[in-house]
Amino acid sequence: MPMTRPSRALSLFSFCLMCAALVVVAAGKPQDAGQNAPPPSSTPPAAPAAQNQAPPPVDADTCKICHEDNYNSWANSPHWKTTYDTRGGPLKQGCETCHAPAAAHASDPTNQSLLPFTFDKSEPKDINARCLTCHATGTEAMHLTESVHRLSDVSCVSCHSIHHAETKEYLLAKPQPELCYTCHLQQKAQFNMPFHHRVNEHLVQCTDCHNPHGTVGEHQLRVSATQSVVCYKCHEDKQGPFVFEHEPVKTEGCVMCHTPHGGPNPHMLKTSNVNLLCLSCHTTSFSNAPGAPSFHNQAAQYQACTLCHTQIHGSNFSSVFFK
Ligand code: HEC
Ligand code: HEC
Ligand code: HEC
Ligand code: HEC
Ligand code: HEC
Ligand code: HEC
Ligand code: HEC
Ligand code: HEC
Ligand code: HEC
Ligand code: HEC
Repeated sequence: MPMTRPSRALSLFSFCLMCAALVVVAAGKPQDAGQNAPPPSSTPPAAPAAQNQAPPPVDADTCKICHEDNYNSWANSPHWKTTYDTRGGPLKQGCETCHAPAAAHASDPTNQSLLPFTFDKSEPKDINARCLTCHATGTEAMHLTESVHRLSDVSCVSCHSIHHAETKEYLLAKPQPELCYTCHLQQKAQFNMPFHHRVNEHLVQCTDCHNPHGTVGEHQLRVSATQSVVCYKCHEDKQGPFVFEHEPVKTEGCVMCHTPHGGPNPHMLKTSNVNLLCLSCHTTSFSNAPGAPSFHNQAAQYQACTLCHTQIHGSNFSSVFFK
């Protein structure tokens, strides 16, 4: 922020007085400038009139005179629809919805102290607050308040660009997954492993599994249509219910045995050898899982357990998952 809020209010105020003759006094409502609005108590007591002399709204066509490119990108985006918001009035329409009242700037554009709200020089929390004046509701946005991204100071404009979006849909600053890889290098490496969900091939997207705006659960994970683990969204056949469930699928979940992104092992298993995975639980000494019967050869090189126990995610016919 180049200057403090009260001084900005003062300069706006004196500007208003100077061109009082030109000012179309808006509805007599105090200005609704979101984060930039000085708290009412900071208004100097000697200037009660300021409350009624909110800067006149400037319509987008006026800004267009000097910012044609920005005007065009806005006019070709979904934000153009705010023009129809007659209920919200001028402050919910056009450029000022995001850039704050800018009448002073429009008449004295080179005055650095009168610049409108700019996104590259602002704090993440101020940016978020500005966007959230309109985007705080809806199922996608429901968890914005507890979003890991928001709590980590990743603001809306880290992922979205209003004037220079690279995607037709959702105004993304970059398409997925490149957008996410700019910060998540570890995950980038995982999706480059030999066995992976085909995210780089654009068959599956990060946002199929995650909601970058936050979710109730851990890791910003989405859930399936039945509010169960996200994996069932696409792997319905693994959900059952089965007459004979394999307990860990239901209790520990898919990521007990699989890496969700990708890894070096076939079927994205956590171990290089299926038998090691099974034997990590099926040993008599360690868990509530029964040990493999004594006629099994316990050597890791023994035939793959899943050669016989094929229905490892659950079965309707065999308590030992043969079919
Ligand atoms: C008469 C021409 C003119 C008009 C009208 C005008 N601007 Fe500007 N605007 C400028 C100029 C020139 C600058 C560059 C100022 C500087 O950096 O010194 C600027 C800078 C800006 C910036 C900051 C850019 C940055 O990244 O630093 C924003 C945002 C902006 N204008 C928005 C608006 C909006 C919104 C309106 C309409 C309410 C508007 N302008 C009307 C000339 C104008
Ligand atoms: C929905 C919010 C929003 C609206 C509406 C909006 N802007 Fe912007 N503006 C931004 C953001 C965010 C940036 C930072 C760059 C970006 O993300 O594209 C920006 C950047 C700018 C800049 C700096 C130069 C640049 O391209 O980065 C100017 C000038 C500007 N806007 C003018 C306008 C004008 C003129 C309008 C109306 C025609 C307008 N803006 C409407 C959000 C908005
Ligand atoms: C004045 C209200 C308002 C503000 C402020 C606002 N938006 Fe929007 N936004 C809208 C409306 C209205 C739509 C169109 C919704 C629709 O198409 O149904 C929209 C659509 C979007 C979309 C969806 C685009 C698509 O292709 O579906 C994104 C992303 C978005 N806004 C991001 C932002 C960001 C980021 C900010 C802050 C820089 C912001 N908005 C500020 C009103 C607003
Ligand atoms: C970490 C990146 C990221 C951040 C931060 C982020 N978004 Fe998004 N947003 C996305 C992606 C990716 C999509 C597309 C979702 C999809 O593909 O399902 C999206 C979609 C949207 C949409 C359209 C979908 C809808 O109807 O809700 C809106 C509106 C939106 N974001 C607004 C915001 C606002 C406002 C903020 C800041 C409070 C924000 N986003 C922060 C990545 C992000
Ligand atoms: C098939 C579903 C799926 C896809 C696609 C997916 N993720 Fe994940 N992601 C998960 C699951 C499940 C976890 C939780 C892992 C756990 O509990 O051990 C997770 C965890 C994470 C974490 C937390 C740290 C970690 O690795 O455990 C980050 C960050 C993450 N994912 C980012 C991404 C990014 C970025 C993309 C796209 C490039 C992506 N994810 C695509 C399912 C997915
Ligand atoms: C500007 C940087 C940035 C971008 C872009 C970004 N993230 Fe993040 N993300 C972070 C930070 C910082 C955190 C919190 C620290 C951490 O867990 O790494 C985070 C956390 C997450 C987590 C939660 C990890 C956990 O364990 O709870 C997931 C999931 C995630 N991001 C997915 C995505 C996806 C999907 C995208 C693309 C749509 C994306 N991120 C884009 C910076 C970013
Ligand atoms: C958006 C849909 C989608 C979601 C959600 C999803 N997957 Fe997948 N998954 C696929 C597709 C498509 C394939 C086929 C991959 C291919 O052919 O590249 C696949 C393949 C797999 C494979 C088999 C790999 C192989 O080599 O045989 C495993 C294991 C897997 N997914 C586990 C999971 C887990 C665990 C989750 C939850 C964290 C999950 N999937 C969520 C779409 C999804
Ligand atoms: C107890 C460990 C374990 C758990 C838990 C588990 N899997 Fe598997 N999964 C395996 C093994 C082992 C294979 C390889 C089977 C083979 O070698 O034929 C496999 C293979 C797969 C495959 C590819 C072959 C096929 O059957 O389609 C998919 C997809 C898959 N698992 C998805 C899931 C999903 C989704 C979940 C969670 C609902 C899950 N797995 C939970 C052990 C497990
Ligand atoms: C995370 C621990 C875990 C892993 C890994 C695991 N299991 Fe299990 N398994 C269990 C538990 C717990 C039971 C349920 C025992 C019960 O019902 O008393 C079970 C049950 C079984 C049963 C049925 C036993 C019976 O008497 O009904 C078979 C067969 C089996 N598992 C085979 C395997 C195979 C093959 C693998 C490797 C692909 C495997 N398991 C991996 C924990 C695990
Ligand atoms: C050549 C086929 C074959 C292979 C390979 C195989 N099993 Fe079995 N498994 C069986 C048979 C047969 C039974 C007994 C079924 C019955 O009791 O009806 C059995 C039973 C089990 C049981 C149930 C024990 C109980 O007390 O209920 C477990 C656990 C088990 N196997 C684990 C494994 C593990 C772990 C591996 C890999 C190291 C493995 N099996 C490999 C054929 C095999």
